[in-house]
Amino acid sequence: MRDAVRRHDEIVRSEIERRRGYVFKTIGDAFCAAFWSVGEALEAAVDAQRRLGRENFADVDELRVRMAIAAGEADERSGDYFGTAVNRAARLVSTGHGGQILVSGDVADLITGSLPPGITLRQLGTIALRDLKAPERVFQAIGAELRTEFKALRALETPPNNLPLQTTSFVGRQQDVLRIERLLETEALVTVVGAGGMGKTRLALEAAASVLNDRKDGTWFVDLASISDEALVISVLLSVLGVDQAKGVAPLEALLKYLEERELLLVLDNCEHLIGEVARVVAAMISRCRYVTVLATSREPLNVGGENV
Ligand SMILES: Nc1ncnc2c1ncn2[C@@H]1O[C@H](COP(=O)(O)OP(=O)(O)O)[C@@H](O)[C@H]1O
Ligand SMILES: [Mg+2]
Repeated sequence: MRDAVRRHDEIVRSEIERRRGYVFKTIGDAFCAAFWSVGEALEAAVDAQRRLGRENFADVDELRVRMAIAAGEADERSGDYFGTAVNRAARLVSTGHGGQILVSGDVADLITGSLPPGITLRQLGTIALRDLKAPERVFQAIGAELRTEFKALRALETPPNNLPLQTTSFVGRQQDVLRIERLLETEALVTVVGAGGMGKTRLALEAAASVLNDRKDGTWFVDLASISDEALVISVLLSVLGVDQAKGVAPLEALLKYLEERELLLVLDNCEHLIGEVARVVAAMISRCRYVTVLATSREPLNVGGENV
């Protein structure tokens, strides 16, 4: 296996670099590469698949590589790339099968008319990627020496969530999204604070959507805007989470008990007018429920210990 992986690495890396590609990350035996043009990316993928197909990997049964190409802006930090284009490529490749080259709809649009000789794109349909956007069109590269027939794209298993679908595209603020994503990896409470209308809710939704897969019990959006009575905060949480409340159990206790062993993200939107009660409930949740993360939006900080504003 070690020898097979070494040959695989050599082929993939040399085909990437032959097309001016830049390997910005390897994860196990996976390569992440950036290209100057979608045409070169596709050529690199096709040639790598062809060379891999000609290799004899009989010693390890077989070695089949899935590849995907997405296009878009990315942020560079210390030689690594981040951002939605990177996430989309990763999600796309996770739906494919060994030997397959998948191309996102926007790449297909960019490359029509300048496809490498002998290569065509077959539309496979649309899939729901794990973010808030509309379904993404997916194409497969077809050409000589490329395997053509595959099983259907893998159904995406996204943990449950109730994030509202956004119909407009998210503009700018990539650094803010990244900062929140990073904080959510380690911190129990992150609060987006600012005046009304400046984009707190949208930013929180965008960040929550991009980390949907990180928590197996899901991501739950709780809109507190329409609640005027502090006494209702806990019941709204119970109802969004679908917790059945046993008789004789105090609501807060029922909530904490439910959350105790669950791994989920709660997006508490519009906390400002209920700040005292929200702070009390959040403080109790994050001290007792180790795997619960809270992302709040508010005009004022919650002033709870451990809060990242
Ligand atoms: N980065 C963004 N890209 C696109 N639309 C945005 C962005 N930020 C805010 N909006 C839009 O502006 C409006 C106000 O933003 P919102 O998040 O509701 O503000 P806040 O929660 O701070 O009151 C909403 O319609 C929202 O979708
Ligand atoms: Mg808001």
